[in-house]
Amino acid sequence: MDKFLEKLYDRAAKANRKIALAEGTDHRVVKAAEILTKKRIARVVLIGDGEVIKSKFPDIDFSGIEIVNPATSEKADEYAVLLYELRKSKGMTLEQAQSLVKSHPLYFGTTALKAGDIDGLVGGAVYSSADVLRSALQVIKAAPGIKSVSSCFVLVPPDGFKYCSAPAMIFSDCAVIPEPDSAQLADITVAAAESARSIVQVEPKIAMLSFSTKGSAKHDSVCTVQRALHLVKENYPDLAVDGELQLDAAIVPVVAKQKAPDSKVAGDANVLIFPNLSAGNIGYKIAQRFGNCMAIGPIMQGLDKPVNDLSRGCVAEDIVAAAAITALQSVK
Ligand code: ACO
Repeated sequence: MDKFLEKLYDRAAKANRKIALAEGTDHRVVKAAEILTKKRIARVVLIGDGEVIKSKFPDIDFSGIEIVNPATSEKADEYAVLLYELRKSKGMTLEQAQSLVKSHPLYFGTTALKAGDIDGLVGGAVYSSADVLRSALQVIKAAPGIKSVSSCFVLVPPDGFKYCSAPAMIFSDCAVIPEPDSAQLADITVAAAESARSIVQVEPKIAMLSFSTKGSAKHDSVCTVQRALHLVKENYPDLAVDGELQLDAAIVPVVAKQKAPDSKVAGDANVLIFPNLSAGNIGYKIAQRFGNCMAIGPIMQGLDKPVNDLSRGCVAEDIVAAAAITALQSVK
């Protein structure tokens, strides 16, 4: 685990990006800001009222950390106009945009990112995932050519973990699309493959998960996965992907031999694609809590600029890791 994180932080440090943390009055967030700054993993902007933050956390060393208060920032009016232009067709007035930017750190942060004043944004230690995702989707939007924005978790296993030969695994989608259809599931799969390459630096071996292995069970939800697999194989013939596979067939070699003997992926998958959000969200939390894996994310896939979410149950180290990945995503 430590080796993977060390390498991740080194790569982020080399990128030297400016990353904003939206929830500047949360103790885990300020601790993460201190670590990120001391280790030079990123240049940090804390969003919040500087006086409140500094008096609330006397033990934190704030040197080198920029603190920006949306209520008094000289940039707020510029960002409000930007938000108004983006959302006026949806009925937003300039007054509403001004109020949102000055009072809501996520809208201040996403508009600052859109304007190019920061390189990435991390939020979600306090705000819900839906709040973080909605502000990102409304302001940053999908990158050109991307239909479905989705997410992944990077699961970093503890030392000696027996189910993963890669330094970390990608689980997707665990946070964005509640009930993906086949086309969305195919988009999630392709995006997760790219996350494996760019974040974990491994060649993806992708298992599309189900409660069925290779037709062992019949159900509409199994057919959705089978159709998605077909779409991926048709459009990306070189990708190492297989399905539908049960979790044990995907990651346990002896089970893979029995249930999917001809599969090139089964038994050694490093990217797990879940059939829906319930499975993905529950699945990553089981790996995190029962399997003692570190879960970094949700990392968004397919946004035009990087905004990443956190679980509200996160600790400071999770925020540091999410900020490091955000920094890497901002390097195009
Ligand atoms: N890809 C691309 N664009 C999207 C997507 C997507 N997956 N989803 C929504 N959009 C677009 C919409 O079309 C809309 O565009 P527009 O307003 O410019 O026309 C914009 O994004 C905003 O959409 P809204 O309608 O305001 O938001 P919506 O109600 O669709 O909600 C959301 C999107 C918040 C992501 C929703 O799907 C959701 O709640 N997902 C689950 C989030 C969650 O709770 N996750 C679990 C917890 S995570 C954890 O445990 C760490």
